[in-house]
Amino acid sequence: MIHLNGEFMPIEQAKISVLDRGFIFGDGVYEVIPVYSRRPFRLEEHLARLQASLDAIRLANPHPLAKWTELVEKIISGNPWEDQTVYLQVTRGAAKRDHAFPKGLKPTVFLMASELVTPSADLVENGAKAIVLPDFRWLRCDIKSTSLLGNCMLRTLAADQGCVEAILVRDGELTEASASNVFIVKNGTVLAPPKSQLILPGITYDVVLEILRANALPHEVRPVAESELRSADEIWVTSSSREVLAITMLDAKPVGTGKDAGKPGPVCKRVYALYQQYKARVMRAPAHA
Ligand code: PDD
Repeated sequence: MIHLNGEFMPIEQAKISVLDRGFIFGDGVYEVIPVYSRRPFRLEEHLARLQASLDAIRLANPHPLAKWTELVEKIISGNPWEDQTVYLQVTRGAAKRDHAFPKGLKPTVFLMASELVTPSADLVENGAKAIVLPDFRWLRCDIKSTSLLGNCMLRTLAADQGCVEAILVRDGELTEASASNVFIVKNGTVLAPPKSQLILPGITYDVVLEILRANALPHEVRPVAESELRSADEIWVTSSSREVLAITMLDAKPVGTGKDAGKPGPVCKRVYALYQQYKARVMRAPAHA
């Protein structure tokens, strides 16, 4: 069951105008919210990021927070899986084709859910492959826009080489990956690029930084040079669906040196375990986490 503009229906019955600016221009924003045991994870933070994306593209939020919460809860209860991914999207609506944002349109609001698929036991244990590519996307990657052609092209180049992710560099510095944020470890210190207009402010990124702080694990949020990425002891990607996933082969070379070369490193394993514990704990707590 999905939600479209105030109605719940089977996905086959959902129809939108071919003039919808989401279809014509990619003029819309979205969120992907993981749901564990039928409880949305970090819902307030996802809805705050939705508000930031809407503000950035001058689109009025069609619903107050309480209404979004109700819609997300209805989608969760209308679908069969305990663990889900809720996808929600707001576009500017339908209008005669013209680039400048028209005023007064009725936005299109769409929510759907699918079964949450997190990395397999094999991927968690052995890590995944990635390649490094130039970040040729636009300069407002902080907006969670549905205009994802750049990300799709980069992810496809990675998939062509049997890799799960394209890790992106711009002007000699690490930005993020095609659909996840990136952390590296060098000499026991975790390094993460700071939030800027060049990366999406990941909700999982925030959770991981909280975990690092709470457990006094050495870390620095600062620009990461491409050379540091390429000589890292560990590399992980984070996202709502990937959680914390080790990258163990970069451009077909093992990541790290010594006994852990080409295998998930000790800091990644620790943070992965702490992330799983955190998830389990907040899912047992009474209110939304
Ligand atoms: N992608 N960076 C990019 C470019 C992303 O698309 C995503 C998430 C992230 C991680 O954000 P979060 O931790 O809030 O999931 C970083 C989602 C899952 C997607 O587009 O499907």
